[in-house]
Amino acid sequence: MKKVHIKSYGCQMNVYDSQRMGDLLAPLGYEAAGEPEDADLIILNTCHIREKAAEKVYSELGKLRRLKEERRGNDRAPVIAVAGCVAQAEGEEIVRRQKAVDLVFGPQTYHRLPQLLKAHAISGKPVVETEFPAEDKFEHLAKAMPKRGVTAFLTVQEGCDKFCTFCVVPYTRGSEFSRPVAQIEAEARALVEAGVREVTLLGQNVNAYHGAGPDGENWPLARLITHLSRIDGMERLRFTTSHPRDMSDDLIAAHAETSKLMPYLHLPIQAGSDRILKDMNRGHSAEDYLKLIARIRKARPDIALSGDFIVGFPGESEADFEATLAIVRAARYASAFSFKYSPRPGTPAAEMAAQVPDEVKSDRLARLQALLGTQQQAFNQACLGREMPILLEKPGRHPGQMVGRSPYLQSVYIDAGTHGIGDMVNVTIDAVGSNSLSAHIQA
Ligand code: SAH
Ligand code: SF4
Ligand code: F3S
Repeated sequence: MKKVHIKSYGCQMNVYDSQRMGDLLAPLGYEAAGEPEDADLIILNTCHIREKAAEKVYSELGKLRRLKEERRGNDRAPVIAVAGCVAQAEGEEIVRRQKAVDLVFGPQTYHRLPQLLKAHAISGKPVVETEFPAEDKFEHLAKAMPKRGVTAFLTVQEGCDKFCTFCVVPYTRGSEFSRPVAQIEAEARALVEAGVREVTLLGQNVNAYHGAGPDGENWPLARLITHLSRIDGMERLRFTTSHPRDMSDDLIAAHAETSKLMPYLHLPIQAGSDRILKDMNRGHSAEDYLKLIARIRKARPDIALSGDFIVGFPGESEADFEATLAIVRAARYASAFSFKYSPRPGTPAAEMAAQVPDEVKSDRLARLQALLGTQQQAFNQACLGREMPILLEKPGRHPGQMVGRSPYLQSVYIDAGTHGIGDMVNVTIDAVGSNSLSAHIQA
């Protein structure tokens, strides 16, 4: 048996891609290695979204170079591969900067991993493959689905044509593409067969999904969700990430009508000032966003709203930043991610005048996170005493304890008694911590 260690950075789509790389390698005799020290093949599945994320890769590669040198003597030097969005953005440059790297391939070429490994074994030279191939990557991924946990990701849409001025994704993932319904359904059924009960449909703009349906029509995401919810054994569905501009009426209605669709929505706005939203090329105003949320809450009053925020975008004044705080207060988030703006090579915002100093970004980030923290706490607190179904995912901290997810994606600790992983249990929430809840099973 050979061993592979895959380390994922960045978003959930990278987690999905890493899993699929593992599935591709299994028939070649690779099993998973917990640590890079035990592996014959080490893959870093990288993220290019902010400078810090990209730089992490080079420091990790420095460590792997030493590991490779130590093991060269005993003939077990590992093959080192860089995959993902840094690979796509930097290509050949990675091999120039770090000689220990053997393979470089992007998010749209990882299905060729078996051939790339072979090409490297024959030539003994670095192999770099980062063009966007014409074939459908998904057609070439492994059909066999080894046993999975209770929850899984499933990419249904990839790439982005929105070109927000701060963002590298349209360059690293390519243009927007929706997988056909039948292909997604087959994968969803295979996941359920492999033990999965909850599937999160992924896309950089998942609600722009418009894949070919079996009837020859292009299906919107709402229709795909309804279709997948009919699979026996599929207990819960989620989707992420949605763009406010693509939040259609039928998808909003699905949150009211499809019981397997969980009441959680990640709907980033990024900033609250209309001027900044315009410079970001988001294509909507703060008021549009608030109206949209009002429609969503009308359909599903208990929905847990989540978002992403960027502070210190070029030209952001104190007043602009206060507009971000104002939109947060008005929108009421159950959870959110917030970041300091990071200029990315090749994106329009990186060239804009009036870049904001780092101290100002840090100060604004701290203020925003304090507000978001109180909102998260308030959302969790409102769950106290409520009854809800929990899907048990894994053992907890103590013997007999298990952790599961609430419909709102909170982690919930429960004394599970005779219940096991994959069971859905009805609980009452007893206590609320900053990052998790605890509950007891209803008699
Ligand atoms: N497709 C999603 C987001 C993908 S990137 C969307 O449209 O919202 C995830 C998050 O990273 C973004 O929502 C944004 O908040 C953040 N991000 C993207 N580029 C960034 C940059 N240059 N600096 C800081 N944060 C950034
Ligand atoms: Fe990036 Fe904007 Fe596309 Fe999201 S919608 S992936 S932030 S360009
Ligand atoms: Fe990062 Fe690429 Fe995802 S840049 S956030 S891994 S799409």
